[in-house]
Amino acid sequence: MDYTAPFDEIRILAQEKAENGKVEGLFKETQQFEELMMMYDCAIRQVKTKLEILDEEFSVRYRRNPISSIQSRVKSPFSIYRKLKKLGEEPTIRNISKVLNDVAGVRVICNFIDDIYDIAKMLGRQDDLKVITIKDYIKSPKENGYRSCHMIVEVPVYFSRTKRLMRVEIQIRTIAMNFWASLEHQIRYKKTMPGDVDMDLITEELREAAETIAETDKKMLEIKNRLAQYEDLSETIY
Ligand code: GTP
Ligand code: MG
Repeated sequence: MDYTAPFDEIRILAQEKAENGKVEGLFKETQQFEELMMMYDCAIRQVKTKLEILDEEFSVRYRRNPISSIQSRVKSPFSIYRKLKKLGEEPTIRNISKVLNDVAGVRVICNFIDDIYDIAKMLGRQDDLKVITIKDYIKSPKENGYRSCHMIVEVPVYFSRTKRLMRVEIQIRTIAMNFWASLEHQIRYKKTMPGDVDMDLITEELREAAETIAETDKKMLEIKNRLAQYEDLSETIY
């Protein structure tokens, strides 16, 4: 048992936190940086409202909720800085909105696989929302087994004097896909592993777990669809 790993993780987190403070200063135009982050936060709210409205309509019209939960975040200053550096770009305010697509992130956790595509389609039909890219990691999972539907969208946000088109990354996945992705992320985050850990084996096991989870997702959808035909009937009975 390796007891050092959790402490390493805490140390890394503490370091990142300390860096975060410094990095905020690294974006020289602090006021502009703050304003831009506020704008991304507003864009997140726009997208969240759109999603909540769709879920609300579904619950009234079809007596069910396609969305289980919604999470969101604005990327931390440190992560923004790190990503710009990684891409070989200068850490400037202009480059943040020019280069990065995931400063604003919304994660939609759906109940069934079909719900993912329904939500993606319904968002795509809204004429004030522009879909920039869609990546379907459900039809084509990543090598490691990761599944999710990713959309980069652009939404207009109205401020006192300007209208800004803001990009938001939306990740849509089932509860099961989220379960896998969250744990895989935690496991991968533990950067310090004793040398005798067979990482290839762990990668393979994680991929197998992803397959099992995907099978379960399909099974749940199939059961739901099979029972759906009785829904009208049950409503008349009760
Ligand atoms: P990033 O530079 O990481 O944003 O990747 P990308 O621009 O190629 O975008 P992609 O759509 O592949 O991934 C974007 C985001 O999806 C990541 O930041 C993660 O939040 C999530 N993601 C992608 N791949 C994985 C994965 O293998 N495991 C987990 N847990 N999350 C993933
Ligand atoms: Mg990202």
